Amino acid sequence: MKRILSLVLTLSLLCLIQPANAFSPDQIIPLPAEITATGGEFNIKGAKVYADAGQIGKDTKQLVAGFVGHLGEICGNALEFTAKVSDASIVFETDRALGDEAYCLVIEPAGMTVRANSYNGFLYAIQSIRQMLPTSVYGKTQDSGAAWTLPCCTIKDSPRFVHRCFHLDCSRHFWSLDEVKKCIDIFACYKLNRFHWHLTDDQGWRIEVRKYPRLTEVGAWRNGTMTGHDFKSNDGIRYGGYYTQDQVREIVAYAAERGITVIPEIDLPGHMQAALAAYPELGCELSQPQPYEVWTKWGISPQVLCVGKESTMKFLEDVVCEVADLFPGEYFHIGGDECPRTEWAADAICQAKIKELGLVGKGKVTAEDRLQNYVTERIQKVLATKGKKIIGWDEILEGELAEGATVMSWRGSKGGIKAASMGYDVIMSPNTYCYFDYSQSKEVETEPLGIIEEHNRDMAIDLEKVYGWDPCQGIAPEYQSHIIGAQANLWTEYIATTEHLEYMILPRLMALSEVQWCAPSTRDIVRLRKSIAERQFPMLRLCGYNFRDKGF
Ligand code: ACM
Repeated sequence: MKRILSLVLTLSLLCLIQPANAFSPDQIIPLPAEITATGGEFNIKGAKVYADAGQIGKDTKQLVAGFVGHLGEICGNALEFTAKVSDASIVFETDRALGDEAYCLVIEPAGMTVRANSYNGFLYAIQSIRQMLPTSVYGKTQDSGAAWTLPCCTIKDSPRFVHRCFHLDCSRHFWSLDEVKKCIDIFACYKLNRFHWHLTDDQGWRIEVRKYPRLTEVGAWRNGTMTGHDFKSNDGIRYGGYYTQDQVREIVAYAAERGITVIPEIDLPGHMQAALAAYPELGCELSQPQPYEVWTKWGISPQVLCVGKESTMKFLEDVVCEVADLFPGEYFHIGGDECPRTEWAADAICQAKIKELGLVGKGKVTAEDRLQNYVTERIQKVLATKGKKIIGWDEILEGELAEGATVMSWRGSKGGIKAASMGYDVIMSPNTYCYFDYSQSKEVETEPLGIIEEHNRDMAIDLEKVYGWDPCQGIAPEYQSHIIGAQANLWTEYIATTEHLEYMILPRLMALSEVQWCAPSTRDIVRLRKSIAERQFPMLRLCGYNFRDKGF
């Protein structure tokens, strides 16, 4: 008995003094496409690194240098660069045979080779390496006692979808540059490559437009915020903020370093009450006009732009062109959702425009629906002169939609299914699986205040629900190539703090990343949950993220 006790004590002591082990490759999220374990481990401490800027590119060399320098500091043994590949135990090299975002890692006891064909490919290889190293690699404190080894294996990896995105609403609540950057950091960890920045809405205009300064002088500030579900609840406190163009450029550059392209959204022609408060002349001329204010309530505002006026269209064209110049990516999101037609139906100028354009209703499509088609097409054309393709919420499909637009399916998947069958590219973000403002549990009483309440608790979206979803479900095989990707959307009506924001994102983001990156056949909820608990949560803790760990 005494002997057993002493064995148990010795083992416990060993566990305590043993350095933290490296993680196995199947704990990487999103799970790599192919992993072959080959046995043994590679000690990275003091390794010599070969990475030739002439071959892998200057930006990639800088990326590698940042990673290698940080690793050396944390593990307590500097890793040095060598100009001779034969001297190196870590080699970064370009492989032209690999796809754009693919990478290949070969880890052997004597060294590691990292191959890719693009900046993002190398970045994803580094993200995978980081996920196999001790958690302290994510921090700033030296941890020389940890086991700085990598498990020997070969990883060949590439994503399923080209659009792997997350949307953040910065209008209903405004997020500082640091908060946006912290979100981008965590998106990058899970190999997302796009960030959809919702910059304007009824409750606040959040981006500086030099041609129209009142958009931010007036439109960025509201006189109160709802405090509960009751429309009468309001704190009456002035609230707001906006990003200057320099700050926008800072976010774009920060994201680009992390392999992420920013897609701006200027939501038009509805959800424009903040712009109308700034420039009332953009609105309809009604017999009983209501004064404009930056909205202090949530929902769908009936007050929309008067698109029958040429001056309003000119405003829209000016705004999207000025904003487009700040974003180097190929896509521009023009919103297009939830634009009530009541004002257009009552406004003489819109009706005259409908007549002039010869727009007539047909079936379920009204003449006013066609007026929105006209707006979409004009904005699409002007953005094309800036080299941009448009994305719009699935309402843009009602009536007629010009070729080349991408449809973002949010009212379930049906809009996306229809659009794909018509030959449009589609991004799936159905509210049934991808609305991360929905509570993560049906037990809403124990969750933070949100739009899911007791009466609609079945709409809650937990980790398993996100993970069990396939963006191509319901799409005929011949149209599946039109599904270019998936994203989650985080509307922030009820989300006012960083803690709440992060809680809604994590850990569901990890399930989303596997939906975006991995083949559906690889889904394994037991593996995912194990990695979340053992590998991901310690990292999130170290990096100071708030997350939902109930049930883990
Ligand atoms: C949306 O949720 N209104 C796109």
